Amino acid sequence: MRPTAALALALALAASYAMTIPAAARADEVAPILTGADALDNSTFARPQVARVTHVALDLALDFDAKRVSGTATLDIQAAPGAHEIVLDSNGYEVESITDPQGHALAFAFGEDDARRGRPLTVQIGDARRIVIHYHTGADAVSLQWLRPDQTAGGHYPYLFSQGEAILNRSWIPTQDSPGIRQTWEARITAPEPLKVVMSGERLTPEGEPAGAGRRAYRFRMTHPVAPYLIAIAAGNLAFRELGPRTGVWSEPETVDADARELDAAERMVDAAERLYGPYRWGRYDMIVLPPSFPFGGMENPTLTFLTPTIIAGDKSLVGVMAHELAHSWSGNLVTNAVWPDGWLNEGVTSYIENRIMEALYGHKRAAEEEALSWDEMQAGLAEAGMDAPGTALHAPEEGGAGSGITYDKGATFLRTIERTVGRPAFDAYLRGYFDRHAFRPMTSQRFLSDLRANLIRGDTELDRRLQLDRWVFAPGLPDNAAHPDPQAFAAVDAATRAIAAGGPVSAVPYADWNWAERVRFLQNLPRQMDAARLAAMDEAFHLSDSTNSETLFAWLKLALANRYDPAVPAAERFLAGQGRAKFVVPLFRALMGQGEWGQPIARRIYARTRESYHSVTSGAVDRIVNGAAR
Ligand code: BES
Ligand code: ZN
Repeated sequence: MRPTAALALALALAASYAMTIPAAARADEVAPILTGADALDNSTFARPQVARVTHVALDLALDFDAKRVSGTATLDIQAAPGAHEIVLDSNGYEVESITDPQGHALAFAFGEDDARRGRPLTVQIGDARRIVIHYHTGADAVSLQWLRPDQTAGGHYPYLFSQGEAILNRSWIPTQDSPGIRQTWEARITAPEPLKVVMSGERLTPEGEPAGAGRRAYRFRMTHPVAPYLIAIAAGNLAFRELGPRTGVWSEPETVDADARELDAAERMVDAAERLYGPYRWGRYDMIVLPPSFPFGGMENPTLTFLTPTIIAGDKSLVGVMAHELAHSWSGNLVTNAVWPDGWLNEGVTSYIENRIMEALYGHKRAAEEEALSWDEMQAGLAEAGMDAPGTALHAPEEGGAGSGITYDKGATFLRTIERTVGRPAFDAYLRGYFDRHAFRPMTSQRFLSDLRANLIRGDTELDRRLQLDRWVFAPGLPDNAAHPDPQAFAAVDAATRAIAAGGPVSAVPYADWNWAERVRFLQNLPRQMDAARLAAMDEAFHLSDSTNSETLFAWLKLALANRYDPAVPAAERFLAGQGRAKFVVPLFRALMGQGEWGQPIARRIYARTRESYHSVTSGAVDRIVNGAAR
């Protein structure tokens, strides 16, 4: 179908559809906007105190040939008395018209472009409190990746997925793209048969409905107010496997059975998380394993976690990522950072809960090892930024934080520190109450500390002093009360590492007996300078370049490339061409670019070939490292 025809169809449908839904049925409630300087989002153009979106109704057609989404977004608006305009976020979508529900045109204008945030879209709404935006996405909408059939496992059908966090959804959804402006939503999406569409909300039409011209329509809704970065879509040749009464996995038919085997702990994880932190409030917990270019390990889209296939190791070793995304159903999706500099409230709290879920399912040893790896990541983050760097505070400065070693790992260490100071029963009860008190609400660092003081510390000034709360959240470095990981967690592994560092034989290392965490700890702690003979001996003995575990392969490649070890280059190239997860791809290109005349030509050669396969999240980051490699 040509875009204009698709558009006409979408317009007709949207007009009838939007008007059939009574406003009162659209939302549980309207989530309040926090006031106060700590809740002011510098990443949005919206001025929610003047006018804010409460509900988004999408009616969209997916055009895989034009790589374009087109149709309408109908926005419900709450406005201050006398307000006559609303400011939305935009990044590249094009607007044909904006009308009130009766079809009367409303004036609108785009403001100046900002490289990071995009452009404000100001709409003159007059008295209208519902508006209909007729639009289509621009070329290369940064949230979306359109894959050719040859980029999928099956090889026969195209594929589309979105990645909204942090501020990418404004490239395909015209709304106020701020985590503090929670919105309910619904969607009707059409795609050509036999493709299926899934979204991060309740599925209303499991089989889809005929939509004419060889297309089917899929309808969804989210009746809880959510941060708009959590609206997500995927479409392709998809199959589903049930895992438990409320859990399941989507993937291509070629991979879905292996994915279902790998993720079979999902239902038990939901049960464990509920026992710790109270009811799972989102209905189903399904997952979709995306094609390998998905730029993250996972993304916590409500009711439908998005996952990279690089966690499908075959031995369930990397299901910590599933635990992590599930944990966001409380920390992140239920209680959400109001502003991105408070990202630790999402990611740090989630990393702590992830570890609690892992402990509940797999026991102390595995959890203690993963905690110790997280501690290492934190130390690496602190060392890289410098202990005094402002970016090492949990509440990141506006200019940007020091990265995941702080947000995730220092954040998790902070929560473990509180837990071990007040004891588990008290802290578990506190956290559970925190999620209940603030369910479906935004949160800030300041409010978190107030809540902690009101509900956990309760006037115990000695406890307050010992915890050093404000230092943890607002000061750089690591407070001296930090809870350390179990020093025994990797005792045997570290002994083997020391033996190798002292020149001992590779054959004495029981590498084959180790799990993934032990292997990663070993590889990460080896001396950074090793000669080729030594690397070759390990490569041969431990089959490092042939590792099918993405985490151990990554740890090995970092070491090998830092030592200009030529025999590992083909494995690095295979890995960089075979998946697009930023956590792996970006450091490997950085490692190559750090190796002067040896590594830079290799990096440029590989990137020239792989760039087009990456999502914009990954290619944007690699572009900054491999200057001029492409374009
Ligand atoms: N929400 C994040 C991914 C994210 C963070 C996207 C910030 C955009 C901006 C997700 O939950 C996550 O943390 N994924 C990790 C998983 C890991 C820590 C277990 C990843 O992608 O590696
Ligand atoms: Zn996360």
